[in-house]
Amino acid sequence: MLNEIKNSANYVLRQTNLKPQIGIILGTGLGSIANSIKKDVEIDYADIPGFPVSTVVGHKGKLLIGTLNGIAVVAMQGRFHFYEGYDMNQVALPVRIMKFMGIENIIVSNASGGLNPDFEIGDIMAINDHINLFPTNPLIGPNPDQLGPRFPDMSEAYKKSFIKDAMKIASKNDFKLHQGVYAGLTGPTFETPAEYKYLRIIGADAVGMSTVPEVIAAKHMSMNVFGLSVITDLGVEGSIVEVSHAHVIENAKKNEKNLVLLVEELVKAMH
Ligand code: HPA
Repeated sequence: MLNEIKNSANYVLRQTNLKPQIGIILGTGLGSIANSIKKDVEIDYADIPGFPVSTVVGHKGKLLIGTLNGIAVVAMQGRFHFYEGYDMNQVALPVRIMKFMGIENIIVSNASGGLNPDFEIGDIMAINDHINLFPTNPLIGPNPDQLGPRFPDMSEAYKKSFIKDAMKIASKNDFKLHQGVYAGLTGPTFETPAEYKYLRIIGADAVGMSTVPEVIAAKHMSMNVFGLSVITDLGVEGSIVEVSHAHVIENAKKNEKNLVLLVEELVKAMH
């Protein structure tokens, strides 16, 4: 497995003269960030040895390498979801490849359902913790000791200083940035009202079908993570309406300008 990861990382690095410093995983409908990257090269997932290929409509399967606000970045346009049938090692693979490319800091984004009654559609939440509700974990199985420890610490899965930086960026630019707990579960069904209620009771502020596996893999390798959720629908009692993938994509774009600003300023702060 390690040799495969190294091969993939070397393949990607050979396609560019840049040395990416920060990894970005783009969530559903968050393509505006991709548009603001000054691209050096775009690599189809199908061309990367060992890479799975993305299947969902609205998820493009490309690795983008370029600069964002002058900082060299690598961004995944389209991620691998557990609900697509990929196994956890496949879901985690791109983060592992990023680590072998020399990246220590990553930004993971997603579209999610809001559970906190203070949230509105289009709001952005800095993830300050997560609850893994997937029935599995990407680290199950023999532990590759070269990647990280058998029992990784998760006391600060989302780096506090990055959240502080993000809060400063939001207040300086006068937009609202929440902080909260992200519950990750398999999907592909959206939640029933009873499930939204349950997720709120157990302490979640937002819910989605991604992010947790990648963050676990990243922490295993001692990477520093910033996570953000764009709230695309509300799982709050009294506000629950029908949800669709099309609505998620549409609503993820509502706060594009601030989202791009946040990520652009963050890569600079992280650097
Ligand atoms: N639930 C799960 N995943 C989601 C949601 C939701 O309400 N919205 C966007 N992704």
